[in-house]
Amino acid sequence: MIKTKVRIINQEKIAEGIFDMALSAPEIAKDAKAGQFVNVYLPDKSRILPRPISICGYNRSEGTLRLVYRVTGEGKGTEMLSSLKAGDELEILGPLGNGYDISGMKGKKIVLFGGGIGIPPMLGLARSLYELTETKCDVVLGYRTDDLFLENEFRTFANVHISTDDGSFGVKGTVIDAAKNDKLEADVVMACGPMPMLRGVKEFAKENGAKGFISLEERMACGVGACLGCVCKTTETDDHSHVKNARVCKDGPVFDIDAVQL
Ligand SMILES: Cc1cc2nc3c(=O)[nH]c(=O)nc-3n(C[C@H](O)[C@H](O)[C@H](O)COP(=O)(O)OP(=O)(O)OC[C@H]3O[C@@H](n4cnc5c(N)ncnc54)[C@H](O)[C@@H]3O)c2cc1C
Ligand code: FES
Repeated sequence: MIKTKVRIINQEKIAEGIFDMALSAPEIAKDAKAGQFVNVYLPDKSRILPRPISICGYNRSEGTLRLVYRVTGEGKGTEMLSSLKAGDELEILGPLGNGYDISGMKGKKIVLFGGGIGIPPMLGLARSLYELTETKCDVVLGYRTDDLFLENEFRTFANVHISTDDGSFGVKGTVIDAAKNDKLEADVVMACGPMPMLRGVKEFAKENGAKGFISLEERMACGVGACLGCVCKTTETDDHSHVKNARVCKDGPVFDIDAVQL
C-alpha cells in the first residue's frame, strides 16, 4: 500500500451522476487486485477524510487505474471529484483491502452480481476471472432504469443478464429476479451492491448450495484498520478481540457470505 500523488488522464460522465476516471498510478496498479479499493484525498483540505472508491480496472503495463463512481452525499466530496479534469492531480492511498480470491475458480459455475454503484468493481473481477478460467461466467447487473453503464464492457468477459427497477430494460425487478428468470445456476456467487441485494444473493447461494463472497461497504475514516470506524458484525467471534466484529477496510471489504451478518 502506498500514498501517492497521481495524475488524472481522463474523466467522463458515462450515465446520469456516474463518472469514469482514469489515473496514472503505476505504483498502485502494479499490485492492484479486483475487489480492492483506494482512498481518494480531495484537493479541498476542508474535507479531510478520504473517499473510498473501488478499483474498477487496472492496466499494469500502462500503469493506470480506473475508478467509476456516483456523485452523492451532502459532503460533496464526489461532486468535487467529478469537477476535476485530465491533467489535474490527486492524492490516493492504495491498494486497500483484501480483494477477491479467485484461485481455484477454474471449472466452477460462477455467477457475479452487481447492483448500482456495486457494478464497477465486478467489471475488474469479471475480467480477472475470464483471464484465469478462459471461459465467460454469468454476470447479473441491476440498474434503476435503462440509463445503463459499463454493461457493454462486461460482454467481453461474461454472459450479461440485466434487471432494472422500473422494467425499462431487461427483467423488471431485482438481480435475483433476473437470475431466476434466466435460470442461472451457480457453484460460486460473488457480489457487490446494496444490503437488500446481498441478502437476496445469500438466499440464492443457499438455494444453489453455492459458496458466496460479497463486498461490503461501510463509512470509513482511516481505511487501514486503525480506527475501527468501519466494523461490521461477523457470525463468529474472532480469536484476537473476542467479539463478533471485523473491519471492512482491512479484513474486507470482501467476506465469505456466511462469515458476516447481513
Ligand atoms: C470499500 C468501499 C468501496 C467503495 N467503492 C465505491 C465505488 O467504486 N464507487 C462509488 O461511487 N462509491 C463507492 N463507495 C462509496 C463512496 O465512498 C461514497 O459514496 C463517498 O465516500 C461519498 O462521499 P461524498 O463526500 O460525496 O458524500 P458524503 O455522504 O457527504 O460523505 C461524507 C463522509 O462520509 C463518507 N461516506 C459517505 N458515504 C459513504 C459510503 N457509502 N461508504 C463509505 N464512506 C462513505 C465519506 O467518505 C465522507 O467521509 C465505496 C465505499 C467503500 C467503503
Ligand atoms: S476505516 Fe479505520 S479501521 Fe476501517
